[in-house]
Order: sequence, then C-alpha cells, then structure tokens
Amino acid sequence: MMSKLPGSTGISLLGDKSLEFYRDPITFCERRIEKHGSRIFQARLLNKSTSFVCSVQGMKELLCDKSSVFLKDPTDVMTYMYGDNIVTTNGEEASLLRLSLMNLFTGKCLASSSDYIKSVCERSLKDLSSSAEPQSVYPIFKRLGSELVLGLFLNVKAEETPEVFEEITHLCTLHWHGIISAPVNIKVPLWSSGFSTALEARDKLMEIIKEKLELEQEGFVGCLRALPLPDASCASQHLLLFISALIPKALASLLTSFTLALCGPGQEEVRERARQDPRYLDQVLLEVQRLWPPFIGGRRIASQDTTLGGYHIPKGSATMYVSYTVHRDPEVFHQPDEFRPERWSGRNAGQENLLCSLGNGPRNCIGMQLNHVFLKAVCGYMLQHYGWALSPSDQSLQYKWLPVSRPAELPMVIFTPLHDQASPQSHGNTQDIHTHTCPHAEARKGTSD
Ligand code: HEM
Repeated sequence: MMSKLPGSTGISLLGDKSLEFYRDPITFCERRIEKHGSRIFQARLLNKSTSFVCSVQGMKELLCDKSSVFLKDPTDVMTYMYGDNIVTTNGEEASLLRLSLMNLFTGKCLASSSDYIKSVCERSLKDLSSSAEPQSVYPIFKRLGSELVLGLFLNVKAEETPEVFEEITHLCTLHWHGIISAPVNIKVPLWSSGFSTALEARDKLMEIIKEKLELEQEGFVGCLRALPLPDASCASQHLLLFISALIPKALASLLTSFTLALCGPGQEEVRERARQDPRYLDQVLLEVQRLWPPFIGGRRIASQDTTLGGYHIPKGSATMYVSYTVHRDPEVFHQPDEFRPERWSGRNAGQENLLCSLGNGPRNCIGMQLNHVFLKAVCGYMLQHYGWALSPSDQSLQYKWLPVSRPAELPMVIFTPLHDQASPQSHGNTQDIHTHTCPHAEARKGTSD
C-alpha cells in the first residue's frame, strides 16, 4: 500500500516555508522529523510541493535506484547564473558531458597538479604560527581554495600575476552574490540590483575565460580544449562553473570543520594518529564530511508519478535530500552526533558510499577525487607542521548552513609549530585537556537555533 507523505504543502504562497527553511534548514528538518516520526516528509518550498529526504535509505533510492525518475531541474537558478551546463542537464546529454569532463579530474590532469597543490599549501600555511597570534582560519582556507582553483583550472597563479588573480577572485564573488540573492525572494519575482552586478561580473569572467581558452595550450585549459564537447561555448561555460566561488567556499568549510574537530590539547591523540597513519586521516576526513557537509543537499523533480520510501510522490513535485540529516540518520550511524573517526574502520567500514556530501549515484560530484587530493594535501600539511587550539577557548561555534556551511562567527585558532611543542599551550582551556572531548562537537550538540 502506498501511503501519503507526512506533512502539509499548504496553499500557494501563503503556505510557503522557504523563509523558515533558508533561515535555519537544520531546525526546519529536525522539528518535522520529530513531529511526523518520519525522515521523509513534505512541505512547500520555493512555492512548490517538496518532499524532504533525511534518511540514508531515502537518499539512496532518490539518487541511485530512481535516478532516471528524479531529474535535475533545468530552471534551477544555477542555469540563470552559469548558463547551460552539466549541473542542470539530464539524460544522454548529461551522460556524455560527464564522460568527457571526468577526464579532467582523473589520470594525467590530476597527476600533474600535485606539485602546484603542494606549493600552494606551503605558501598559504607556512606562517600560521609566526605571529604567535590567533588566526581566523576560514578566510585563510578560502584564499587557499581560490589559489588552488584558479591556478589549476585557469592557469592564473597568485604568486605570478597577483592583480589578475585578485580581479578574477573579486568577479567570482560578485557573480556568486547574484546566486544567493535569488532563491529567497520568491515573493518578489524581479531580480535585485545585486543580480545585474552579478551578470556584469559573469560577462567579464567569460571574456577572461575565452581569452585563456584561445591562448593556453597547457594544463587543465589545454586538456579542456582537447575534449570532444558538443559546441564552442561548452568549454567556457564549464570553466565558469569550475572557477565559481562555490568550490573555494566548500573547501574552506571542510578545512575549517577539520581544524575545529581536531582543535585543542584534548584532540592531540587524534592529530598524532592522523599524522602517522594516512588511513586514519581518511577516516577523520570522512567523519568531518559526515558531520559538517558544506552543501545542504540537492534538489530533483519527479518526471512521473512514483514512490519514495513507500510514499506517493506526484509527477512534477520537487524532492530535496538534506545531507546534514541524512548523515545523522541513527539507523546507519550510531551516536550520530558524535565525532568518531573509528566508526569508519568498525561498524561503518566500507560504507563511504552512504554519504552524500558530494552527492551520490550517477550524478555525484565529478570533482570528488580532486577534492580528496586537496583535503589530504592541506590537512596533511597542517598535521605535519602544527598543533592548534581555539583561542579564546569559549568561542561560539554555532554553524550557519546556507548557502555554504560554516561557523557563523569566524573561529580564531592559535597554531604552535610542532617541533617545539610537546603539548600545545592550552590558552586557558584546561577543560579540554582532561575531558578529551571535541569542543566543536560539544558546541554543536548544545545548539539548535
Ligand atoms: C569541497 C568540494 C566539493 C563539494 C562539497 C562538492 C559537492 C557536490 C555535490 C553535493 C554535488 C551533487 C549535487 C546534486 O546532487 O544535485 C556535486 C556535483 C558536481 N560537482 Fe562537486 N563538489 C566539490 C568540488 C567539486 C570540484 C572541485 C568540481 C570540479 C571542478 C566539482 C564539480 C561538480 C560538478 C560538475 C557536479 C555536477 C555533476 C552532475 O550534475 O552530473 N565539484 N558536487
């Protein structure tokens, strides 16, 4: 028997819950999961009936088993901002694009990036402890992410052409602001002035990208030129997507969460193990992605009447998987709010494919491998060179989740060079030394604003 989805989608506009969702998507979902006793429920979002998927099983059904029924939305705001591209395309066109573009993120292209990645880590992170002052890590990681992305994808290197690097970074930020000004204004269908600034920024970025594509033979741009793509604008549209501010923001989010999860003398043992054992570092990184996924999730449209978790889903309605809640599904992840890297060699060994921080199934992230290379390089560098602690120790680590997750107030962290620290200074945080808790996890547990 097919049953009706719990929850209500109300009436058009008045019943819309977009503002509530965008203000605090986690509480939005947690409240409804509890109220309906179900990790799949419905509400009205962006003035459309939307089912929310917060269970591992539901996410797998949506993104894997029924990926040919639940399709990407070609009218998504991504299409307005980035033009036609793989993210909002479906069917054979999407499969062919994926096949072509995947070449860029594996094998030769990826192998040739490792020296550059190392040099960016060294340059960005070598002075973390030199002033002996606490550092605001998020902007440092975001800049590092922009250097990786622009250097690898566009051959624009901050140390060689700093003005060009700064200009492109600025344009990417303006362009990005156009996207985030869009979705909440559902009751005002006119685009804000931020949107026209964003379009101007996009035009300037496209000029720069086209020039690069004409002139450069080497590296990623050279590889992209050589791909069999359907038309002339395809390469430039995708470069625009790859250099978007989203990727440095997502990287900075994960790197900040990693830093906080391993913060303080209480986590010294975890840092030491991760420093010695690359497999354990992988487990730490899985656990960071599980607890603090950068993106809230992804959206699909049902192309026909169907079911999800046994519930009826009507044709044309939207479905959204919410990574944060999927990753804390207690059916699969015991003590889901605890930071426990060991779960990945115990009960959850071999279950990495139950995460969805990089999507899942045939439309998962094509930058997955590259992302792993970035994370390992940066986290490896930090572990090899520093111990670190929050300073001051009583900062609010409450996260905001949209548009990209990070602590709402940027955390300050003090770094101690590894060679002259037997145990990092506690900076007044004596509690951590004794309890061996992760201040990050503690702070999250106590908040549900
Ligand atoms: C921390 C870094 C990253 C995160 C968290 C991330 C996350 C994601 C997620 C969640 C999806 C699936 C979206 C959905 O289900 O609707 C996705 C897809 C995608 N990602 Fe990433 N990504 C990251 C890095 C990258 C990089 C470095 C690239 C390449 C430059 C990239 C390119 C893509 C593309 C092209 C898709 C769309 C694939 C398709 O629609 O078939 N991502 N990513």
